[in-house]
Amino acid sequence: MAHNILLDCDPGLDDALALLLAHGDPNLVLVGVTTVGGNVGLQNTTRNALQLREYLKFPAVPVSAGAAEPLTREVRDAAHVHGAGGLGNVVLPEATLPVTGQHAADFIIDTLRATPGAIHLVATGPLTNIAIALEREPAIARWAASFTIMGGSYTRGNATVAAEFNIWADPEAAKIVFAADWRVTMIGLDLTLQAQANSIVVDRLKTLGKLADELIVPLATFYFNPNMPDWDGQAVHDVCAVAYVARPDLFLTQPARVEVETAGEFTSGMTVVDFDAPAPNALVATKLDVNGFWAYVESVYARVAVEHTA
Ligand code: RIB
Ligand code: CA
Repeated sequence: MAHNILLDCDPGLDDALALLLAHGDPNLVLVGVTTVGGNVGLQNTTRNALQLREYLKFPAVPVSAGAAEPLTREVRDAAHVHGAGGLGNVVLPEATLPVTGQHAADFIIDTLRATPGAIHLVATGPLTNIAIALEREPAIARWAASFTIMGGSYTRGNATVAAEFNIWADPEAAKIVFAADWRVTMIGLDLTLQAQANSIVVDRLKTLGKLADELIVPLATFYFNPNMPDWDGQAVHDVCAVAYVARPDLFLTQPARVEVETAGEFTSGMTVVDFDAPAPNALVATKLDVNGFWAYVESVYARVAVEHTA
């Protein structure tokens, strides 16, 4: 049975790879894309989403732009990871089709209201749009078939030692999201760092031809962290969140209570995860079937690559 997905994202290298998976998997139906400022500014994340839509040939999927800034914090981006434009050194043709003109939060509300229980909401950037949507219409927590984020960590962060970037960028939004009337599936760094596009994976991706040359491989190899001693390749964080909706069998999850630190001087944006809490509000992903994950992702990418041979 196909799963409908609404993807809120901040493309971004791995957001783009997640969009490719959401578009390419025949068991997923991408019903909408909303953009948020995050890795780079909203203008760039939205431009990237619009360009990817046309380059990957899903022009009928609406794209709605959302929040340019966090609810209360200063804008903090990850351009040092994703490049100034957000897609590393990938250059795509200018988009010819526009955004919807509706705010992302209102698009999320209207889309979920129209088909309660039928759409899986996935967020792979800061949670600002989701928080705004919840504030405007708390019922989206019930209307979403499920809600999955790439974000958080129950060990170390990446934006700071305590906080993962998507939560760190807008902790107040994340607090609202985890307090809402749904169970958040948290695909955090503990899981996503198991999904590194290492040299063996990249060599297989390189066999996919033009799409790999122009998009997949440059996105998957742009960032290198010389400070990480055990660096084995760029983690495709956001791909894991979309993959969870399609193939939850590849993931181990545990119920937990997740609280978001918003006041800490050194810990702001930390997800405090209690696996023993009596009242869990989340499912936290702990283990990935790595070989199964890459077999799945590469099979979907190969399927799309066939459309990009000319
Ligand atoms: O910490 C990784 C997350 O931050 C990913 O979503 C990446 O795209 C960045 O937004
Ligand atoms: Ca992202």
